[in-house]
Amino acid sequence: MRILAIESSCDETAAAVVADGKAVLSSIVASQMSTHGKYGGVVPELASREHLRAIVPVVREALQQSGSTWDDLSAIAATVGPGLVGSLLVGLTYAKSLCFARGLPLIAVNHLEGHIHAVVLEAKCAGTAVAFPALALVASGGHTHLFEVQDGFRYRLLGKTRDDAAGEAFDKVAKLLGYGYPGGPTIDRLAPHGDPQAVRFTFAKMKGNTLDFSFSGLKTAVLRWVEAHDMETEIAARRALLRQPARPTTDDWLAATPRRTLDLLASFQRAVITELLTRASASAEGMGAHSLIVSGGVACNTGLRAAAQSAGLPYPVHFPSPGLSTDNAAMIAAAAFPKLVAGQFAGLDIAAQANLPLA
Ligand code: KG4
Ligand code: ZN
Repeated sequence: MRILAIESSCDETAAAVVADGKAVLSSIVASQMSTHGKYGGVVPELASREHLRAIVPVVREALQQSGSTWDDLSAIAATVGPGLVGSLLVGLTYAKSLCFARGLPLIAVNHLEGHIHAVVLEAKCAGTAVAFPALALVASGGHTHLFEVQDGFRYRLLGKTRDDAAGEAFDKVAKLLGYGYPGGPTIDRLAPHGDPQAVRFTFAKMKGNTLDFSFSGLKTAVLRWVEAHDMETEIAARRALLRQPARPTTDDWLAATPRRTLDLLASFQRAVITELLTRASASAEGMGAHSLIVSGGVACNTGLRAAAQSAGLPYPVHFPSPGLSTDNAAMIAAAAFPKLVAGQFAGLDIAAQANLPLA
């Protein structure tokens, strides 16, 4: 059973064909990074326009690369939310049109469920399985959520960020320091060159649900540190690097980053990782998890991966490979597969929902 899936919730136009919920026959991702990079973040109107440009060729390429014809497909899946509504609309409307034209059923997928299924998909590919109940930490540019995942993919929300998402904190700090967008990958590459103990960041104790996150205080602490350390010249030099035609390499960034700033980056990243893993492990312990799933763009972070693997947690920790951690459509097809088996189809009148909850 082959599913063609379309993902367009933020700034990647993606399509994939996955067979039987486990074999990725194709996975195409058209990134809009070059469009949004110079603005230091995703511009929703530009994202919709870029999706419109990319959607037809991306879907065509996914179908071709998978060696499938329309007749080989059992269903078409699309992300219905959460995300930018103008972006979601492009992928969902195209999916609906294809379903109508080809007489195929439509499967509506929650983007966060997709991120969780990225791990399930890879475990299946490897011939292993994720043990349930699992605790899933989804950390990306738009979300930082902790879900209890029961067998049969039933979800319960245990905690979430009250302000910025973890990826957003990476992006805002990088922008403030002159590294451009997206900030996570750049900070990840520079952090190993600094001392993570050099700058002490403290997190306020959470009132109410202690499994919730808050990253805005950390962002403000970095801002205060920058204001106190006379950094205008080095930040201006890095912004100038961003205006060059070629994307700066890690060596370019290292040459433009004094030791003290590397220490700041390392300490900031260390603080985010500690925050994520402390609450994820507390949640996992509280619900008696048999495994921990970490997914979303921030799951690419090498420091987070290393810290999670060396934390001595009493259950296996699963990360998707980097290509399946950031937004892609293979994870949407994987999440759609159990719905196809259960005959859970959506009507062609289903609407995109910017704030669609998973649980
Ligand atoms: O899942 P994703 O592709 O899109 C959303 O659903 O938001 O995640 C993108 C986010 C961005 O904030 C980006 O800075 C962050 O993931 N990210 C990283 C890394 N790679 C991407 N954050 C930390 N370390 C990384 N290596
Ligand atoms: Zn995402």
